[in-house]
Amino acid sequence: MLKGSFPIKEFEGLRTPFYYYDMALLRSTLDTIKDIFRDNPNYRMHYAVKANNNPRILRTIASYGFGADCVSGGEIRAAVDAGFKPSHIVFAGVGKSDEEINLGLDLGIARFNVESAAELLVIDELAGKKGIVAPISLRVNPDIGAHTHANITTGLAENKFGINYEQLPGVLKLTLGLNNVKFLGIHYHIGSQILEMDDFAALCNRANFVTEKIVRAGVDPGDINVGGGLGIDYHHPNHLDIADFKSYFDTFRRFLQTRPGQLVHFELGRSLVAPCGSLISRVLYVKEGTSRKFAIIDGSMTELIRPALYKAYHRVENISSDEPEEIYDVVGPVCESSDVFAKGVSLDKCHRGDFIAIRSAGAYGESMASGYNCHPLPGSFFNE
Ligand code: LLP
Repeated sequence: MLKGSFPIKEFEGLRTPFYYYDMALLRSTLDTIKDIFRDNPNYRMHYAVKANNNPRILRTIASYGFGADCVSGGEIRAAVDAGFKPSHIVFAGVGKSDEEINLGLDLGIARFNVESAAELLVIDELAGKKGIVAPISLRVNPDIGAHTHANITTGLAENKFGINYEQLPGVLKLTLGLNNVKFLGIHYHIGSQILEMDDFAALCNRANFVTEKIVRAGVDPGDINVGGGLGIDYHHPNHLDIADFKSYFDTFRRFLQTRPGQLVHFELGRSLVAPCGSLISRVLYVKEGTSRKFAIIDGSMTELIRPALYKAYHRVENISSDEPEEIYDVVGPVCESSDVFAKGVSLDKCHRGDFIAIRSAGAYGESMASGYNCHPLPGSFFNE
């Protein structure tokens, strides 16, 4: 079976499960984007910190001069600690607390992506108390269904996110009438793990329409934040280890109309960090059932919840063995029947103690880990 190459000798003696990060792959991913941006001077990247907030990953991304897209005060602090400049931080989220808004105001972050009229009024009030003007974008729900898992599509009218597209004129009018907020642009996000470029083209068309409406109302439309969402190939981590950034950015270049000097913000998370991470576990037991064989590993849904939560596919490889393949259900030790990584997969014959790599786990893996069953949080290993 084709497998990734891992420095297994260095894994001996490490406590499993842990996250393995291929830092060379992360850097070549970031280089790819930087190269594309060289030809598009009005493009700005704000990495979605929620995908992976490991300090070393954050520091590496910050060192490329990219900004950060945060959804909590905790993420804002993590981003600043890792070297992101507050003036390169945008802050989204439907439920920003007063404490979080005040933190953003005190640090002087670049933008509050506002999700409702109610939130707008609170930001105006808190900024007013400090005698400052808060920089804001309005997050518009573009009512576009992306071809992805129902739990991670966000751009449909019935989602909780953003301001309804029909309500935008009213909220924009409200914004322009307030003294302590300044309207600087529109924010969108249609979902995650999107591989159909047509979905992004549809977003561009909607954004063009909105910009035109704002301009016609005599208002400066500010910049356009198109959110994140570019997917990766979870099935072929050994062939396609860098997301298709070219098609993605080409789509925006082709379909998004921008005015001279108008900036376009991107908030990619998964496509930057998913491929470089793998969850490394060991086989605890091979259990022969009546109709199937279980590889019971020490990694579980507490380190990587995506398969249990979204039935997400991650490629599983036995990186210790090269004996002929056998069919296994790969399961974790947690007391939940959803604690399953893969059913009926071919793995090189498993033995107690073998290392198992669960691939493409660099996004929404470590950052979504929990302490359920009193499991300690996973450690990390960086291959520079
Ligand atoms: N911007 C906004 C406003 C977002 O809500 C998100 C992700 C992103 C950017 C980054 O999207 P990305 O480029 O990573 O697709 N836990 C789920 C994914 C949740 C995504 C939430 N929002 C998963 O494991 O698939």
